[in-house]
Amino acid sequence: MNASTQRARHVAIIMDGNGRWAKKRHLPRALGHQRGVEAVRKLVRSLKNSDLECLTLYAFSSENWKRPEDEVSDLMNMLRKFIRSDLEEFVENGVRLKIIGDYKVLADDIVELLDDAIARTAHGTRTVAVALNYGSQQEIVRAAKLAAEDGAITEQSLERHLFTHDLPPLDLLIRTSGEVRLSNFLLWQAAYAEMLFLDVLWPDFTPELLSHSLDTFAARERRYGGR
Ligand code: IPE
Ligand code: IPE
Ligand code: MG
Repeated sequence: MNASTQRARHVAIIMDGNGRWAKKRHLPRALGHQRGVEAVRKLVRSLKNSDLECLTLYAFSSENWKRPEDEVSDLMNMLRKFIRSDLEEFVENGVRLKIIGDYKVLADDIVELLDDAIARTAHGTRTVAVALNYGSQQEIVRAAKLAAEDGAITEQSLERHLFTHDLPPLDLLIRTSGEVRLSNFLLWQAAYAEMLFLDVLWPDFTPELLSHSLDTFAARERRYGGR
């Protein structure tokens, strides 16, 4: 493959480091999450000038319920606010919202907001997939059960039941905050994805850093086990 022409179609980001961003500034954690939401907003806005087809964002893991109740509730309120304030902009910019994860167990009003947003953005030409109450191991077990109901479990039949079944293959997985782990995110999908671990806390992430990450990706040599 000619590395210089390699273009990423699907990038996923583990948006980590909001808490540390706030702590460094002696600010409340919630403010770190708030600045994190602003980083998301800027990034989604920047998509209209890029040729990326899909951006998948890890917003709330199935393990994040272990956090103190007030932090979980702050995060859920920010999600409500974000959907309400940004939905029109999604529609105008041709962004299709997709949710991966078991989001139907969230509060009824949030499920309603999300379902409405999904329906209203259904014709968008690029996808922003937000992972909510998402855990990759749970996703794989669910897909395996559904595949078994259909017949034989094969890589293809299982993949058809992953939340990501309608997305392009994952090209690049980015994690901010300096942690070097996947934290139960896209384990199956990352089989041959390129990975990038950045020493930047999520609220400091910018569209320029995404564009720089895409350049880094373009220069990587992918082999898929060949030579
Ligand atoms: C990521 O930031 C946001 C969520 C997990 C919801 P963190 O809250 O994990 O920030 P750190 O890792 O404690 O700095
Ligand atoms: C991963 O970050 C989940 C999200 C970014 C939503 P965590 O902060 O929850 O991950 P760990 O606990 O450090 O592995
Ligand atoms: Mg974290």
